[in-house]
Amino acid sequence: MKKIVIAMLVVFSVALVAFAATSPEKVNLAEQWGLDTKKPAVEFPHAFHQTKNECIECHMTAEGGALKSIKTGKEFNPKALVASGDIKKGKTKNPAHDEFCWECHKAKKVPKGKSCSTCHK
Ligand code: HEC
Ligand code: HEC
Ligand code: HEC
Repeated sequence: MKKIVIAMLVVFSVALVAFAATSPEKVNLAEQWGLDTKKPAVEFPHAFHQTKNECIECHMTAEGGALKSIKTGKEFNPKALVASGDIKKGKTKNPAHDEFCWECHKAKKVPKGKSCSTCHK
């Protein structure tokens, strides 16, 4: 019996470590997406958002990974949008705002959800 309990604890803590390693606390999005910036790079509070939203509001699956466009519900690929110049240094009209961050902040009426300094600081 004791052995089983210990084995279960080991499995459980390994699972916890794996979760912590893959599900980030914070993400520097400019760095993650390969974007050169004029404004201060966005440090996205991921763990905070996990407590306030469902995974599948932002990701295609509940495990994370590929992001979802809040506007279209289709896959949102910021790295490709940086490569194509749609998300670009100095460009305020961009899909990171319009299809993702601002779209949900507007829908959920987040206080100061579109104020530049909420995200760029
Ligand atoms: C408000 C939006 C949002 C919510 C809600 C959210 N995530 Fe994320 N998540 C992101 C963003 C943005 C990234 C940054 C990585 C990227 O650009 O792919 C990310 C990254 C991740 C990563 C790392 C992926 C990688 O390729 O490095 C994992 C794993 C993950 N999220 C899991 C989850 C899980 C599990 C939940 C629910 C418990 C969740 N996320 C909820 C937006 C969100
Ligand atoms: C699916 C919905 C959703 C998306 C997408 C989303 N957010 Fe949010 N965000 C929220 C909610 C809800 C809150 C406010 C929660 C509260 O104050 O109770 C919030 C609050 C914040 C805050 C304030 C945190 C604080 O400490 O008060 C920041 C910063 C932020 N979001 C950044 C971002 C950035 C950057 C993106 C895009 C990469 C993003 N959010 C995308 C739902 C979203
Ligand atoms: C809810 C979060 C959020 C808010 C609010 C926000 N942005 Fe952004 N913005 C982002 C994200 C995410 C990116 C892409 C990643 C990065 O730049 O770090 C971005 C990128 C940019 C870029 C392209 C990169 C650069 O820095 O040159 C500009 C310009 C920009 N934003 C300007 C603004 C301005 C101006 C405002 C206020 C009107 C604003 N943003 C408000 C999330 C936000």
